[in-house]
Amino acid sequence: MVIESECSRVVGAGVEVPLVGGRSARYINLDYAASAPALVEVWDEIQALIPWYSSVHRGAGFRSQVSTAAYEGARDTVRSFLGGRPDDTVIFTRNTTDAINLLARCLPRRTTVITTLTEHHANLLPWRRYHSAVELPVPASPAELLADVDETLARAPEEQPVLLAVTGASNVTGEVWPIAELAELAHHYGARILVDCAQLAPHRAVDIAGLDLDWVALSGHKMYAPFGSGALVGRTDWLATSDPYLAGGGSVAWVSAQGAAWTDLPDRHEGGSPNVVGAFALAAACRALARIGMGAVSAEEARLGDLLRERLAGIPGVVTYQTWPGHPERVGIAAFSVNGRDHAEVATILSAEYGIGVRNGSFCAHPLLSHLAGGVEGWRPGCGTDVPGAIRASLGLGSREEDIDRLADALLEITTRGPRWTYRTLADGGVVPEPDDRRLPAFLSPACLPGPSPGPCIINAR
Ligand SMILES: Cc1ncc(COP(=O)(O)O)c(C=O)c1O
Repeated sequence: MVIESECSRVVGAGVEVPLVGGRSARYINLDYAASAPALVEVWDEIQALIPWYSSVHRGAGFRSQVSTAAYEGARDTVRSFLGGRPDDTVIFTRNTTDAINLLARCLPRRTTVITTLTEHHANLLPWRRYHSAVELPVPASPAELLADVDETLARAPEEQPVLLAVTGASNVTGEVWPIAELAELAHHYGARILVDCAQLAPHRAVDIAGLDLDWVALSGHKMYAPFGSGALVGRTDWLATSDPYLAGGGSVAWVSAQGAAWTDLPDRHEGGSPNVVGAFALAAACRALARIGMGAVSAEEARLGDLLRERLAGIPGVVTYQTWPGHPERVGIAAFSVNGRDHAEVATILSAEYGIGVRNGSFCAHPLLSHLAGGVEGWRPGCGTDVPGAIRASLGLGSREEDIDRLADALLEITTRGPRWTYRTLADGGVVPEPDDRRLPAFLSPACLPGPSPGPCIINAR
């Protein structure tokens, strides 16, 4: 979304991409839910840091001290942006998946984890691996979710730890989950709650202390800080007493021939050299989002999200999907399919002929996709699987009404007139233009520069 009427809040806003047939168009990024572009402020801060970048923690040099200050200071910024309690730990991870796996490794023995089949695989599979997990069916409404969770918590074994692990917002259909009510329920039964904030934190204020959340997990690359970091933020107790997530340098205070003593939090779970730039970028994104104001971010996104869903719903042959129809609280995500056309084909046509970037497939949420597909005609399996697939358009800072118009106009043409190019379906279910004359940018393949021999630089050379 374009806040303050400018369109360059994100890096790469005006990038032109090649289309098949030799044309080009301004890239329409409708794939924020997968990875958001860097905010200009984040990029500026990174450029300021880089000349000072050096080793952290044990480096005696001045640049090491600057880098250490940048890295450690990032914890406070992230904690404060998420409304954390003063004693909450901030452990930097690679992404949300890493953060949830970290927590999964640290749960006390015999912890029961309650989650739902609505979750992204990152908040489903780690629990299966380490703990007895109760996976509730996809709820038909928030009320049904709360009732199911209540009933399951009431039946959970007493005297044993229980963790409720839920999403903050669906990565497929965008509904915002009632996390305040879920936290209250969990605590009523003496359980803990982890909220997967991968899709929530970039779009809504998260208030750990205010909502009494025990842990939240998030990804920097979905928060306009695509530099390879994420975070697990929350209570220290379970994390402080478990073995390090990654044993090695950094997570250990001393080592002898006989054994080792682990360090305290947060270093205990940050074994190895940390991603200083990534952590600093995440903090820079928090600063930038706080300056814009999460109220302004979510209000503008709600407006554009409504427009997106409205435009999609108005195109004959386009079917939109919702987990909770009519739910008013949604982030800017819409999943849809086009009757009679494979999702991979539609996504490829949007890219190749219109310069529009969406995502297609099953969005790492196979159980939810199977649920949404139930009874809907026109669903096709995701690439190489029996799981249904769809197309997802998602918005963020820098998205404009014009982007939604371009998507809607393109879909109207595809549904009425069909593609204007030819396409080939690959063995893995993927679809590519045939031929594909789009060139990679020169920095990736000098052989692609104009000349007699384009070389192996065509995007879909496979
Ligand atoms: C709701 C949700 N949880 C977890 C993840 C995993 O995030 P990452 O791939 O950054 O680990 C995603 C990614 O799309 C997501 O949307």
